[in-house]
Order: sequence, then C-alpha cells, then structure tokens
Amino acid sequence: MSIDFTQKQSVVPAIGVVETAHLTSPMNPWDCEKNPPSWDAMHTQLNLPKATGYNQSTVCLDGHPDAILNKTALLWVSATHEVEHHSFLELSLASNQVANALTALGTNPQDRIFLFLERIPELYVSFFGGLKCHAILCPIFPAFGPEALLDRLQDAEASIVFTSPALKPRIDAIASQVPSLKTIVVVDRAHQWQPNPSASVQELDYYQWIAPQSRQFTVAHTPAETPSIMHYTSGTTGKPKGALHQHGACIAQAATAQWVLDLSVNDVYWCTADPGWVTGTSYGIFGPWALGVTQLVFEGAFKPETWYSILERFNVSVWYTAPTALRMLMKHGSDLPKSYQFKALRHICSVGEPLNPEAIVWGRDVFDQEIYDTWWQTETGSIHITNRIGLPVRLGSMGKPFPGVEACVLDDTFTPLPLGSEGALALKSAAPSMFKTYWNNQSKYESRFKNGWYLTGDRASVDTDGYFWFVGREDDVINTAGHLVGPFEVESALVHHPAVAEAGVIGLPCPERMEVIKAYISLKTGFVETPELLKEIALFVRSKLAAHAMPREIEVIESLPKTRSGKIMRRVLKARALGLPEGDTSTLEEV
Ligand code: PRX
Repeated sequence: MSIDFTQKQSVVPAIGVVETAHLTSPMNPWDCEKNPPSWDAMHTQLNLPKATGYNQSTVCLDGHPDAILNKTALLWVSATHEVEHHSFLELSLASNQVANALTALGTNPQDRIFLFLERIPELYVSFFGGLKCHAILCPIFPAFGPEALLDRLQDAEASIVFTSPALKPRIDAIASQVPSLKTIVVVDRAHQWQPNPSASVQELDYYQWIAPQSRQFTVAHTPAETPSIMHYTSGTTGKPKGALHQHGACIAQAATAQWVLDLSVNDVYWCTADPGWVTGTSYGIFGPWALGVTQLVFEGAFKPETWYSILERFNVSVWYTAPTALRMLMKHGSDLPKSYQFKALRHICSVGEPLNPEAIVWGRDVFDQEIYDTWWQTETGSIHITNRIGLPVRLGSMGKPFPGVEACVLDDTFTPLPLGSEGALALKSAAPSMFKTYWNNQSKYESRFKNGWYLTGDRASVDTDGYFWFVGREDDVINTAGHLVGPFEVESALVHHPAVAEAGVIGLPCPERMEVIKAYISLKTGFVETPELLKEIALFVRSKLAAHAMPREIEVIESLPKTRSGKIMRRVLKARALGLPEGDTSTLEEV
C-alpha cells in the first residue's frame, strides 16, 4: 500500500526550516470577526508589497523577503510519483524568462494567453510570466475536448496557447477555426520538442524559446483593477462565459487564505483542484503563495491510496478539497485512512458542492479534524460564505459571510427576506476579488445585479443565528462532482451526433457526485435504439467536451416537451425523471 515517491531534484532546503514570517502577524481572526477591517486595512495587515502596485506575480513571488524566496514554493509530485522542489526564487526567475520571451513575441497587455497543460511546474511559471506582461491568463482543464476548447478560445480570441505533446492534438484539431491564434508553445518534459516549421500556427519549444532570455524582468506598475485571469463558467443558456478577474483580487485571496484556510508560513498545503477551475487559481496559486506558503501539487489522478500516501508522506498540514472527493474516500471505508498517520494534518476545508453531514462526521472519525465547508463561485473569486475556526460548525451549513461581505436571501422582487426564510442568495459589499465582467458579454454581467445586490444563482436560507444553508441552484445549471455544466453545451454536443434529432439535458440527484447528467434524446429517422448506440452517443459527448460532461444516462423518447416557441422544457423532463408533478404545462407543445 505504501507508495514509493522518488526524490528527483532538491534545490532548496527541507520544508519547514524557514522561521521568518512574511506577515506581520495580523489580528487574530476572531478579533477580525468582531471588528471587521476594511479591505484596505487587510492590505496593510497582510504586509503585501506595494512597489509595483498589485501585480499578483509580485505579491506571490518577487516581493517576498529572502527567507521566503529561498524556501520551497512548489512541492511537485508527478503522476509517476517523482518529486521536485521549486523555490519561490526559482519560480520568480523562470517566470521572468517567460515574461521576456512573451515580450519578444510582441505580447500586448490584455492579450489572452491560454494554458492547456497538465499540472506541471511550467504551468505555474508560464502563468506568472504572462501576469508580469499584464496579459490575461486563461488556464484550461486538461480533460477538455476540442469542442469545449473551441468555444473558449474563439470567444476569448486567444493569441497564444501553452500546451504539451499529449494535449496538443486537441488544439491542432481546432486551430484553423481560431484566427486570432498566433503561437503554440509546447512544453515537452520528456524529449526535445521539434516544432513543425510549416505549421499554419507558429510552434515553439518552450525550453529553447526561454533559454536565451534574461532572468531579470521589470514588472510595470499594476493598478488593482488591471485584468489578470479569466475562467469560463457555464450558465443555463448559451456557451460558457469568461469571468474576468483583476490583480487587486489578491487582497481577498490572501485574507481568506489566512483567515479561512488558516494558512501560515510553516504549513505544507495541498489544494486538490486543477488551475483550470477557480479554486485551483485563487487557492491553488494566489492566496497561499501571497502568504509565502509551500504548496504541494499532485499531477496525477484521484486514487484513495495515493491521496492518503501524499497526506502522510509530505506532512500536509492544511488540505483544501471537495465533497465528491471526500465521499469517494468515504466509500473506501474508514480502515484505509486509519492505516496511515496524518501527523501534520491540522486543518481541512471543502468547496464546490454542499458538504453533507455524514462527510463531516466521517472526517472527525478518520482525521480527528473538523471539515470546514466554504462557499463561493468563479465570479466571486474568493471565499464569501464560510465555516471557520472559532465558529461552531452546524452540520450541513455553509457557515457565515466572511467579514466585509454582506449576504442575504431575496424574495422575487429582490427585497431582503427576514432571517429564517428561503430565497435567492445575494451578495453586497463583496470582496475585491469579485469578477469585473463576462468577456464580450457586459449585458449578461449587468443582469446578475439587481437593487444593488449580486445574484449568485443559488437558493439558500439563513437561520436566526445567521448561518447560511444551501438549498439548490435557481437555474438549470448542473453541478456534477463540483463541475458546473451548462445543459445547453451538452445538448449542442448531442445533436452533433448523426443519430440524434433533438436533446434535453437535466441533472439527477446522486449521493456521491451531487448530480449526474441525464439526457433525453429523440432519434433521427432510420436509427434504432440499441445499448451500443447509446454508449456511442455518450462517448461522443465525452470526446467533444470532457468526461464530467458525459451523460451517465440517456433515454430515448418520441419527442421532447417544448414550449410553443420551440424551447425544450427541462423543468418538465426533470419532473418526469423524479416522478414529480409537471406543474403548469399550458404552454407545452408536446401534450
Ligand atoms: O451552486 C454553488 C456551488 O457551486 C457554484 C459555483 O461553482 P463554480 O463557479 O464552478 O465555483 C466552484 C468553486 C468555487 C455555486 O453557485 N457551490 C460552491 N460551493 C458550495 C456550493 N454549493 C453548496 N455548498 C458549497 N460550499
């Protein structure tokens, strides 16, 4: 059961030897609770460097004192269990090289640079190199298929993509449909990449490209509102939308990393999220590195034995993960974790879906720890409602708003409801990490605000003590294992299959993954329903979008319930699937 981790390279002293704190130990979080400081005050208390403004690369890397610069920033465990240590200084200097190489390539501020890479050190180096040039960085989940990539690259008008030999064919498949794409940089850790000189889009070998570049780079002054990263997120209708964030977000990310994740400079911290999702950037890059904390990144896939071995072997002290992962671990029983020793583990947080009480109770048993549920979104950029040390956990509650955040539930007229009621979850006085717009879709952005409140799209209730309780989504967006999936994206992929005439997609409740995708389809004339055909259709969606977007169930029906204007009524499909009353069907065309 024990896994052999191979020490590949050790360029910095062992973890935990650095005693010097980056922070001027700010106020105790519970004083902060009673007397919430302004975000400006948090900036001062977190002692973030001001010289170059708010550039997140300075906050996370270059601006740290020597004691931090020389310690491990990135403790990297490869998919094959090789281990590398990369210091803050190393990441800083290597990202300077990337910034110089990007500048030489003619990169302009706000150019969109995509990172379609496995979780390898070069992903993080390239990310900061781009931020130093004031480019907008868009990390993409490496499981995405060509269709999902095309939607995003086209919408953002990507100019550069960093990728790997294994993932590049998916970029090649769509490159001709993205006229803005000028350069593909290939990171090949195993061999020397040979660019194709006659490729229609310029190809560069990452290592040869950065090798001649200086390790010095001067970051231009970066006001807080300078755009920094963009994450695509799904809605009920239309294609995914790019939520644009700014460099000033680092205040909220660092403050919550300190006061919710409880990070301090001697921690070894593991965030299991990929940087293709917002958790993997806000808390897999920005917050922890702003605080000078060593982060463990595991390139490989989920496997209970591997995860437990990592927690034990690397003395992980703070762990940020997701309810589905915890439930998958639970499924393997309590004896397995009890055969490991998690001596250093002292704080566990979770995000992305409701954390069920059973998971918290299990965590108390096998880790002897509380699991703190945190609520936030791609759009909010940092934790906004949360459980935290000092606030007794109420099993199943998301906790209370982070100091400085005002949250409430609204009625149908967007008026706050009294405590104890259920309604639309809304935020005011949100943190500086709040998104600035949806790329190319300002009207959609504006539609998220009513009466001065930001509408989260979730339903919740607040109890009389101010604890928030998640109820569900207000829209048709499906949350499967923490991934938001827009039904429209899956329906569009389904109708591309030659056998599918029309499709309607819903989320079905699932005890492990919160929801799974169910598709209702009608077949084109000449096609007959067989188990093989349904499997082929499911795999077709998987290959175009991603594994998590694949329908787990497909049901063939004669025709789909539609409004008279031709819109598929997912509400009716869901009611049918759950055996619930179908509600008002007066506008239904099918009946
Ligand atoms: O519905 C809520 C759910 O995930 C949505 C945000 O998803 P995304 O933008 O992908 O960001 C996920 C990671 C920050 C929310 O609108 N969600 C997130 N956290 C929780 C949650 N639902 C219940 N409890 C949570 N703790």
